[in-house]
Amino acid sequence: MAYAAGVDVGSTQTKAVVIDEAKNIVGRALIDTGANVVIAAEQAFAEALKNANAREEEVEYVVGTGYGRYRVTFGNTQVTEISCHGRGAVHMFPGTRTVLDMGGQDTKAIRVSPTGEILDFCMNDKCAAGTGRFLGAAASALNIPLEELGPTALRAERPVRISTTCTVFAESEVLSWLGRGKKIEDILQGVHQSIAARSIGLLRRVGIEEEITFTGGVTRNVGMIEAIQKGLGAKLNVSPDSHYMGALGAAMFALDHVLAGRAPAAAGRS
Ligand SMILES: Nc1ncnc2c1ncn2[C@@H]1O[C@H](COP(=O)(O)OP(=O)(O)OP(=O)(O)O)[C@@H](O)[C@H]1O
Ligand SMILES: [Mg+2]
Repeated sequence: MAYAAGVDVGSTQTKAVVIDEAKNIVGRALIDTGANVVIAAEQAFAEALKNANAREEEVEYVVGTGYGRYRVTFGNTQVTEISCHGRGAVHMFPGTRTVLDMGGQDTKAIRVSPTGEILDFCMNDKCAAGTGRFLGAAASALNIPLEELGPTALRAERPVRISTTCTVFAESEVLSWLGRGKKIEDILQGVHQSIAARSIGLLRRVGIEEEITFTGGVTRNVGMIEAIQKGLGAKLNVSPDSHYMGALGAAMFALDHVLAGRAPAAAGRS
């Protein structure tokens, strides 16, 4: 069996996806990137192979993406994460025209053509205020696990207005609201709304065209999906594999290479 793979080494988490020639995901892995980026890439790839029940020799081409893409030492080539999220999103949701990728450190709004080419993109500059890290700071200030952030926020009745735009100050603002007797769910809902507003701002800058596909790790947060949908007044495409979208796009680019090598025209060329 021949496979292609994509490895997305993000600032926070490393994702690997193995696909077959029919473009189906047959294996995936997700690990924390940690301090050793080279090892994270190797480990995620090894886990995805195991998950796919595939041998490394069966993977004909590997594309690395994400901020650590040049540290995917076993990769055949690298593609930027903007291109990979665009490609993955259009593959999974063919009606996609706009992509919102919320990761650990960056949030990116991307406008794509019907074939997944990048028409325009925009990202948060040097500031993690609208990203997963801001959520992580709120979670640690409130001492609740990341997985419970969204479900807790959804229980809010009177959301507070978070005024800080800086991750460094998020924790102290959250604590000061707690000190004033606000409920955790109302504070968290405020945090989600503030991040949603920032990402909607980014989307407007590239121009919002439906369908809008949400990618990256923050797609695992139901509270964030809700907050963005409410703020936008539009639905987001999300799937359980949305966290893997960059790795999936990378795997699709890898598969292009595998299939191009097989085309009769290519075979005929010397
Ligand atoms: N189970 C979960 N529930 C809620 N949030 C989650 C969950 N898993 C991951 N996240 C969020 O996703 C973020 C990581 O997302 P992702 O893997 O897309 O980031 P990354 O690609 O490493 O970062 P970047 O693209 O900014 O370099 C975490 O910071 C966290 O906020
Ligand atoms: Mg990422």
